[in-house]
Amino acid sequence: MAEFLLPANSVVKQGKVFKAAEGTSNIKKFIVYRYDPATGENPSTDTYEVDMDTCGPMVLDGLLKIKDQIDSTLSMRRSCREGICGSCAMNINGENTLACTRAITDIKGDVKVYPLPHQPVVKDLVPDLTNFYAQYASVEPWMKTDSATPPDRERLQSKQDREKLDGLYECILCACCSTACPSYWWNSDRFLGPAAILNAYRWIVDSRDEAAGERLDDLEDPFKLYRCHSIMNCAKVCPKGLNPAQAIAETKKLLVQRKM
Ligand code: SF4
Ligand code: F3S
Ligand code: FES
Repeated sequence: MAEFLLPANSVVKQGKVFKAAEGTSNIKKFIVYRYDPATGENPSTDTYEVDMDTCGPMVLDGLLKIKDQIDSTLSMRRSCREGICGSCAMNINGENTLACTRAITDIKGDVKVYPLPHQPVVKDLVPDLTNFYAQYASVEPWMKTDSATPPDRERLQSKQDREKLDGLYECILCACCSTACPSYWWNSDRFLGPAAILNAYRWIVDSRDEAAGERLDDLEDPFKLYRCHSIMNCAKVCPKGLNPAQAIAETKKLLVQRKM
């Protein structure tokens, strides 16, 4: 099983340097976190000189070029390469984001790539998100109803009610927000984190769902919800432009309102 990860951008010893071929003029250096718990070695950062004349525009393109042409031992997750699947989330030059939507030209100087912070590392840029997914599952992110299903149609929703889900349903579960939250770093065993709470709120405000009270009961907990101290990193880093901090604040508001 994975070991604990050093926080992003902490000092990690320098590893190997992979030089570009002689005569390459348009070079960008990628400094990449390397760690394989199976070896028993401490983490290090390897440096790769990448030829930008033969590389795609995004950080993920650079990493895939490294893996395909320079060092096949580098591990990372990716799938859609267009900001949809959330699997290429990592820490790039100090910020959690998606490698497939971060342009290399937007980065001044070297490209520094670490896994999402404060998660155990499976290998290199692959964090172990078991706890993150378990927390998502714990909010039961599906429609719950007691009333009988209409026999001849779906459960309908007005346009206005549907609009309440905007800014929530777009979450791709990349974990950029939760792993950027200091409260989550220190209490990820008990604080659900911004991603799971945003998804809980997405169902609380869905007019078709009939379990809002039960969902709020579950969140009314000093750790699960109230460890959010409005630090706002979550909203700053979300690559889909969502605002988990607002969803958390609205959830707190609903808990207060139902007491009045
Ligand atoms: Fe990723 Fe944004 Fe969803 Fe957080 S709220 S998991 S940052 S898409
Ligand atoms: Fe964390 Fe976001 Fe709250 S960064 S403390 S969940 S506002
Ligand atoms: Fe799917 Fe980046 S590869 S979001």
